Amino acid sequence: MTADAAAAIPAVSTNPLFKPGGNLREETVTWVHHWTDRLFSFKTTRDPSFRFINGQFAMIGLLVNDKPLLRAYSMVSANYDENLEFLSIKVPDGPLTSRLQHIKVGERIIVGRKATGTLLQDNLIPGKTLWLLATGTGLAPFMSIIKDPDAYERYERVVLVHGCRDVAELAYGDFITKELPENEFFGDAVKQKLLYYPTVTREAFRNQGRITDLIKNGKLFADLGQPAFDIERDRVMLCGSPAMLADLRAIMDGLGWKEGSTTGAGHYVIEKAFVEQ
Ligand code: A2P
Repeated sequence: MTADAAAAIPAVSTNPLFKPGGNLREETVTWVHHWTDRLFSFKTTRDPSFRFINGQFAMIGLLVNDKPLLRAYSMVSANYDENLEFLSIKVPDGPLTSRLQHIKVGERIIVGRKATGTLLQDNLIPGKTLWLLATGTGLAPFMSIIKDPDAYERYERVVLVHGCRDVAELAYGDFITKELPENEFFGDAVKQKLLYYPTVTREAFRNQGRITDLIKNGKLFADLGQPAFDIERDRVMLCGSPAMLADLRAIMDGLGWKEGSTTGAGHYVIEKAFVEQ
C-alpha cells in the first residue's frame, strides 16, 4: 500500500456500528500470509482494551452490503501480543471467507469486543500431560495456548498434534519447532515440555494418518514415547472439524472421561473449528 492510500483511510471510523462502547470495532490488517490456496493467516491491530484468555475466540468479519458478516475465529496470537492474529480457511462460495481471503494490508476488518470459548485451562481438572488435538484450522486456539507460559507451569508435558490433508497445510510448523523454543521468556519450558506431532492424510510424510486412527492403533503414543491415555494423568483439548470432534469425543467418552466446561471442569474440552465459512 502506498503512503497516500494509507493516509486515505480514516483513523477513526465514522460508521455508527463502531461507536465507542458498542459490541464491534474495526481493526486494520497489518500482515497477510497465504499458506496454500485453501489456507491463510493474517494479523491486525489490537485495541488495548480487547482482552481474552488464550484459547478463546472472537467474532470477526467484514461489512457486506453495509451489514456486519461475522464468524467465530480463535486467536492465534497470545493474549500478551500487541497484534491479533487469525488462521482461516478459504471456502470459494463461503459467505465470509470468499471475501476475507482477498484482504490486504491496510484494509479494515471487524472484531467483536467479547472473547469466549471452552478451551480454557480452568475447564480441565489438573493433570500432568496436556494433549492439544487439532485438525485444519482447529490449530488456531492451540497456537495461543502453546505461547502461554501458564500451560507449561500447569503441566509436565504439553503435546500438540496437528492433522491436515497435505504437508503445506501444516501451518506454523517452523514457528513451533524453531522460533518458540527460542522465546526469551519461556523457551526453556518449551524445549523441555512441548512435543509437536504433525500428521498428514493425503501425501507422504514422516507421520501419516488420521489422529483418531493414530490413537486407536497406538502409533501416536509409540512415536512420541508417551503412555496411552490415562484418566489420572492426561487432559485433552480438541478443536477441528465436526466429524473429527464426534469421533474423538466417542473415544474420550469410551474411556469414561468427563467433558469439561465453564460450569464444571472435566478431563477433556471441545471447540468447533468453525470451518464451514
Ligand atoms: P482425511 O484426509 O482422511 O479426510 P479437512 O481439511 O477436511 O478439515 O481435514 C483435515 C484433516 O482432518 C485431514 O487430515 C482429514 O483426513 C482429517 N479428518 C477428517 N475427518 C476426520 C475424522 N472424523 N477424524 C479424524 N480426522 C479426520
